[in-house]
Amino acid sequence: MDDASRILAADLHDADVVIESSLRPRTLAEYIGQREVKANLSVLLQAAKGRGEAADHVLLYGPPGLGKTTLATIIARELEVNVRYTSGPEVERPGDLAAVLTSLEERDVLFIDEIHRLNRAVEEILYPAMEDFALDVMIGKGPSARSLRLSLKPFTVVGATTRAGRISSPLRDRFGATYRLDFYEEPELTEIVERSARILGVEVETAAAEAIARRGRGTPRIVNRLLKRTRDHAEVHGNGRVTEGVAIEAMRHLEIDDAGLDSTDRKLLASIIQKFASGPVGVQALAAVLSEEVETIEDVYEPFLLRLGFIDRTPQGRIATDAARSHLAGLGYEIPPPRRAEPEMQPLWDDAGRSSGGADAG
Ligand SMILES: Nc1ncnc2c1ncn2[C@@H]1O[C@H](COP(=O)(O)OP(=O)(O)OP(=O)(O)O)[C@@H](O)[C@H]1O
Ligand SMILES: [Mg+2]
Repeated sequence: MDDASRILAADLHDADVVIESSLRPRTLAEYIGQREVKANLSVLLQAAKGRGEAADHVLLYGPPGLGKTTLATIIARELEVNVRYTSGPEVERPGDLAAVLTSLEERDVLFIDEIHRLNRAVEEILYPAMEDFALDVMIGKGPSARSLRLSLKPFTVVGATTRAGRISSPLRDRFGATYRLDFYEEPELTEIVERSARILGVEVETAAAEAIARRGRGTPRIVNRLLKRTRDHAEVHGNGRVTEGVAIEAMRHLEIDDAGLDSTDRKLLASIIQKFASGPVGVQALAAVLSEEVETIEDVYEPFLLRLGFIDRTPQGRIATDAARSHLAGLGYEIPPPRRAEPEMQPLWDDAGRSSGGADAG
């Protein structure tokens, strides 16, 4: 992957882990944006604390890098309890989950990242655990086998997922509160850049913070990453102070355009526009053309392009919009006329992938 797409991919890189923990807000008050989520969560946490009970289970969903893990940590901190971190793929067997559950102290938070990736057998352990704080274990084998119900100390599950639609409905039903994190507004991202700059000890002009915020895909993780790269640029090519000029130059260097798109975003839009006459095109065909995983396209690239109004999802597949065509035209791309303007045209590809694999056509 080239440098620019690496920096904009909202997923976590190993190199981010250390620095992210230093930039991570520790309390709800420090957590910028997501006003509605914060307000609701604050009531939920205060009520639970007031009653001295474990808080309701909380499900957080939204695109990567918007602050789900951060919020889980804050929940535990506000409740003044410990938090255990685990993730769907990490918990392989029911016994693994049972071990974690029995080790929790009263009112602790169990954070399960990528909760949509828990396997069925593990999920079934989780149902009674969340509902009744009970653990059903089988003892013995054959005819003498019986099930034994152990009780657990009350605890709170905080689940995180990039898409709520992937979670089975029995699991979803066991969460008392579900919060959707949305992309951040530019003023909020500017605030995040300025806060991070203070923590990192970097001098950043307001106009530079705004320039970074504008190109940060609505995502705190990305603006933090852009800030660090801009700082590098300022140290190498300037006197270390991040001016608007330095910020814009650094982002040009990273091939990030004024809309905050990187080369992969542009490639995705250009494929729909040029190879598929602006669509509709199924996500499988796009994935094949771009050599990307379907999941990466759906979870990492599409949400922000949808939000910008550059693509649309239709039952027939993805289409590129007028806004996308004029954005790319402004960057010098060749823009063939869109096919979907013609009535009664059958889509070439569909979402079910029945006709995928023929990505070289078009
Ligand atoms: N509301 C916020 N205010 C300030 N900084 C934030 C906020 N939300 C997130 N961040 C910053 O963004 C970084 C990424 O957040 P976090 O790891 O919580 O995202 P995530 O939603 O868990 O992502 P993923 O889906 O990849 O696990 C954090 O380290 C933190 O520095
Ligand atoms: Mg996370």
